Amino acid sequence: MSKRYTITAALPYTNGPIHIGHLAGVYVPADIYARYQRLIGNDVAFICGSDEHGVPITIKAKKEGVSPQDIVDKYHEIIKTSFEDFGISFDNYSRTSAKIHHDTASDFFKTLYDKNEFVEEISEQLYDAEAKQFLADRFVVGTCPKCGNEEAYGDQCENCGTSLNATDLINPKSAITGNVPTLKETKHWFLPLNKHELFLKEWILDGHKKDWKPNVYGQVKSWIDDGLRPRAVTRDLDWGIPVPVKGGEGKVLYVWFDAPIGYISATKEWAEREGKTWEDYWKDEDTKLVHFIGKDNIVFHCIIFPAMLKAEGTYILPDNVPANEFLNLEGNKLSTSKNWAVWLPEYLKDFPNQQDVLRYALTANAPETKDNDFTWNDFQARNNNELVAIFGNFINRVVVLTNKYYNGTIPQPAVYKEIDEETMATVKAYPAVISSSIERYRFREASQELMNLARLGNKYLADEEPWKSIKTDEARTKTVMFVALQIASALSVLCEPFLPFTSIKLKNILNHSTLDSDLTWKEISTKDVLLPSNHQIGKGELLFSKIEDSEIQKQLDKLEASKKANEVANKKTEPQKKEIVYDDFSKLDMRVGTIIEATKMPKTKKLLVLKVDTGIDIRTIVSGIAESFKPEEIIGKRVTVLVNLAPRKLREVESQGMILMTEDEAGNLVFVKPDNEIISNGLKIS
Ligand code: 2FM
Ligand code: ZN
Repeated sequence: MSKRYTITAALPYTNGPIHIGHLAGVYVPADIYARYQRLIGNDVAFICGSDEHGVPITIKAKKEGVSPQDIVDKYHEIIKTSFEDFGISFDNYSRTSAKIHHDTASDFFKTLYDKNEFVEEISEQLYDAEAKQFLADRFVVGTCPKCGNEEAYGDQCENCGTSLNATDLINPKSAITGNVPTLKETKHWFLPLNKHELFLKEWILDGHKKDWKPNVYGQVKSWIDDGLRPRAVTRDLDWGIPVPVKGGEGKVLYVWFDAPIGYISATKEWAEREGKTWEDYWKDEDTKLVHFIGKDNIVFHCIIFPAMLKAEGTYILPDNVPANEFLNLEGNKLSTSKNWAVWLPEYLKDFPNQQDVLRYALTANAPETKDNDFTWNDFQARNNNELVAIFGNFINRVVVLTNKYYNGTIPQPAVYKEIDEETMATVKAYPAVISSSIERYRFREASQELMNLARLGNKYLADEEPWKSIKTDEARTKTVMFVALQIASALSVLCEPFLPFTSIKLKNILNHSTLDSDLTWKEISTKDVLLPSNHQIGKGELLFSKIEDSEIQKQLDKLEASKKANEVANKKTEPQKKEIVYDDFSKLDMRVGTIIEATKMPKTKKLLVLKVDTGIDIRTIVSGIAESFKPEEIIGKRVTVLVNLAPRKLREVESQGMILMTEDEAGNLVFVKPDNEIISNGLKIS
């Protein structure tokens, strides 16, 4: 019987484009799961949308000198389009600035308020007097009391995952002005998580020990074991959903209160559009609710949101929250600010029509049980050695030979040998094998099983060699090609969750649309014949193409450029000398001079003796530049000369001034040139 699934993918913050970390952690596995559930005939609402409130958006807007609305409008479009282009099959991609969401979140708050589920409290909160701003969440940075990370935020430490209140931070600093905050009284509404501790213990610790991923279960257990405390669900901010009760003027709902309600409002929006009943997807005990998230979102989806739903009282709770770990890139943590990422819109531009390659590479190497590393070399290898050499090669051989031997018409098989029977039996087992992995949220394993089916096809052809038997045994060749075509057909269906674009292409090549009915996942196991004899297939096209080293190098060069840019941006300036006042500076008499003679000071390594025409006189200057310049290189050069420096004897030669020198960014000694050029070793460098 068909089951109902509400599948949610974390609403991305709308302050930047999507990158491979988001895709590997949340959106690709969620899409595989949603596509799979639809394919096996279940009723699915696959829900997501833009998370448009919260401090990161305000900070980005401030940085760019635009309004938060400008920021969310811009990135909502970019994110939505890139998800569509990448084949993420959301049933609805909404946004939390939508009216339906404001209303839903507001009503939800009011319900809890009316049910006395909040604790109202005036407390001292961190305040930045210069910015006239209370400092919650990402507006404040400090040391995590749990792990000592000095860059923990006011709501969470990204190092150890601990969920924090801003006042927990040690040495807090305002992220707006850098000032040390003061404390100021303000009123807020708190969700008393402690009140829900027993329920959470029973529901998760006792109820989901076996079916939730160990990384998720472990985090939840450690929070519950630490003891839960009331959590503020309102903020003193002007960007967000206004607090809809008396005394809430000038305050908004905490973004982590409103965002998960976004799943509900996006479902409502979709249901209205599709003529469905949204409550079926949120209030029917038979519906399975599954949240796909990254590990930094575990506390919100496993403790806070369920406590909200439980307090409201009419909603179902998540059946599972299969959070992933993080994906690194070429050995380093993904970082938006350091531009250390592979951005989805850029990938789509650089690798047109190759969505499935990235989907496959990210799935085959998904950070399911531990943090993993994405490398461009692995990406290339997954494509060239697996998609091209195994999957693509098998399909290509089947299609080319069918066209060559039978003009594309599927032949009539003769009697099956044992190997044919065995092969068909193995093919029939694959849906259950892949299903079992997907249903346990083991998408890497599932993708490798899919590849094993293509391997089986390749091996079958290699062992049975229809290209040889065609010369000697026409009947045998027909059987082998018939079996190979059945494998190709099974692949076209079973690859859909992982490689949706490839599935469409392959079904087109195999002309599935002219079959009596669409081939389903289950029929791969139950039907003896997937593609019947006399069915006509098409000419075919290559499903995958080789990715050349030059394409990979281009991507590595991009990352190298980011690394360089970061090094320059982070370069520490040398310790500065003490500040001087204008009077100090005005004592210097600097003139433009021309070097007219230069010789090495005998028996020294560093000194040159120069004759410099200063315009007022010709004077001798001893300069310590012999290791950087040859005498003949600098004759005729115009230089800046300090002429009122007290004369001083160096090796019996009286030096009557100083040539001004400085260092370029590479540390080379260069002349301070009067015409704003800097000359280094005779080369013009700027
Ligand atoms: O971590 C994030 O990117 C959050 N915007 C996820 C929100 S998920 C949900 F609750 F909306
Ligand atoms: Zn920490």
